[in-house]
Amino acid sequence: MSQRSCLSVILAAGEGTRMKSAVPKVLHTIAGLPMVAHVVKAAEAAGSGELALVIGHGADEMRKAALKFAPKAEAFVQEKRLGTAHAVLAARVAISKGYDDILVMFGDTPLIDPEALAAARLKLAEGAAVVVVGFRTENPSGYGRLIEKAGKLVAIREEKDCSDEQKKITFCNGGLMAVAGRHALKLLDQVGSKNAKGEYYLTDIVEIAAAQGLDVVATEASFENALGINNRAELAQAEGIWQQRRRREAMLSGVTLIAPETVFFSHDTEIGADTIVEPNVWFGPGVKIATGAKIHAFSHIEGATIASNCDVGPFARLRPGADLRTKAKVGNFCEVKQAIVEEGAKVNHLTYIGDARIGAGANIGAGTITCNYDGYSKFFTDIGEGAFIGSNSSLVAPLSIGKGGYIASGSVITESVPDDALAFGRARQRTLPGKGKELRERFSQAAAARKKG
Ligand code: UD1
Ligand code: CA
Repeated sequence: MSQRSCLSVILAAGEGTRMKSAVPKVLHTIAGLPMVAHVVKAAEAAGSGELALVIGHGADEMRKAALKFAPKAEAFVQEKRLGTAHAVLAARVAISKGYDDILVMFGDTPLIDPEALAAARLKLAEGAAVVVVGFRTENPSGYGRLIEKAGKLVAIREEKDCSDEQKKITFCNGGLMAVAGRHALKLLDQVGSKNAKGEYYLTDIVEIAAAQGLDVVATEASFENALGINNRAELAQAEGIWQQRRRREAMLSGVTLIAPETVFFSHDTEIGADTIVEPNVWFGPGVKIATGAKIHAFSHIEGATIASNCDVGPFARLRPGADLRTKAKVGNFCEVKQAIVEEGAKVNHLTYIGDARIGAGANIGAGTITCNYDGYSKFFTDIGEGAFIGSNSSLVAPLSIGKGGYIASGSVITESVPDDALAFGRARQRTLPGKGKELRERFSQAAAARKKG
C-alpha cells in the first residue's frame, strides 16, 4: 500500500424513509454488520487511515453506533440535506488538514471493493486530480452518466439533467470518488446549485476540474461496487451478493459447503479448512471454528468457539459462550449456552446445557437439563471428567458432579456429587404383581356405570 496519507469521507446523512424504519438506513445490517460499517472496513482495507463520517442533524443513534464500528472516525453534521457536494463540505475541517488522497464514499453502498478504492488511489498517485469509479450496466436509469470526449471524462450528468442522447450512455457513476487532497476544497467550493434538483452535486467537480485542464480519470469496477440500498428489497439483494462472495471465499479456503446457497455467514465468521457444513446452517456473530469440524444440517450457531474435529448438530443451537473443545459432540435438539464442553465430551440428544463445564469425555444422556436459573439469578454446574449423566436428569445449579460421577437416569440432582459416586435423585420403583389388570377392570366397570346412568 502506498505511503500517501488518505482521508475517507463517508456520506451517511440520508433519511432513508423508503426503508420504512425507525432505524437510520445505513445502520441496517448486512451479515450482521451495519452497511456503513462495511464501507468503513473497505476504506480501512484500502489503506485509508482517517475517517470522516457525515451524518444528519440529530443523528444521535448514528453517533452511538459509529463509536462501535468506527471508533476513530470523526463525525460531522450536515444540518441541511443540500446535496452530495454540500455533504462532503460538512467535513471541511478534516479535509483542510491536508491529505494526499481524499476518498468519498456513500454509507448506503456497502459492497464496495477495497481493490476498486486502491485502484482509484493509484490513479491519484499517478497525478490525477479526480478519479471516478464507474461501472457499466444495461439499465442505467437513476445513475449519473459518465460523459466522455475523445476518451477523456469531461462531466457527470445526473439522470434528471441528461439529454435523451446522454440517457443512452451505459457507463455510470458508481458513487465512489477519489480526489487529490490539494485540489479538493478548491473544487468543492466551486460547485453551485444549478441543477434539476437544486442540489449541490459532488459530481459537478468533474466538469469543473476538466475545464481547468486538470487530469480527470474514470476507472471501471463491477456493478456491486455501486449497489446503493434504498429499500429492504435492495438490502436483501446486497445480503445475497455478500453471502455469495463469502461462501465462495470459504470454499476456496478449504471448507466444504454441500449446499452453499443455504449457509449464511456473519461478517466475522472464522472457519477452518476441512470443516464440512451441511445444508441450512446459520452463523450469527462471533463464531470461530477450527479445522475438520462437522456442522450438520439445520444448526444455529452464534458467539461460539468450536475446536477441531467437533461434531455439531443436526438441529443444534449453540449460543454465545458455547466453547467446544477438540472432538466434543453436541447433537440433535441440544442447546448450549455459556458452557465449556471439554475434549471428547458428548451432549448428544435433546439437552440444555447453560452456565456449565462438561469435563473431558463426560457423557450427557438424552433430555438432561442444567437448571441454571431460578427466575432471578444464574448458577453454575460443573461436571467432572468422565462423568455419566443418565437420561432425563435435571441438574439443579449451583452444583458440582465429581470426576467419574454417575447419575441415575430420571434424577433431580440438587446436591453436589463426589468423584466416582453414584447418585439417585428419584423415587424408588415399586412393582405390584397383578395390580395392572385389577386397575384396568376397575376403571372399565366405572366407565360402563357412568354411561348407563
Ligand atoms: C448518486 C450520484 C450518482 C451516482 C449514484 C450511485 C451525485 C449527485 N449523484 O446519486 O451520480 O450514479 O449516487 O449510487 O452524487 N447524501 C448526504 N447528504 C446530501 C445528499 C446525499 O449525506 O445532502 C448522501 C446520501 O445519504 C447517500 C449519498 O450521499 O448515502 C448519495 O446520495 P443520493 O441522494 O442517494 O444520490 P443518488 O441520487 O443515488
Ligand atoms: Ca443513492
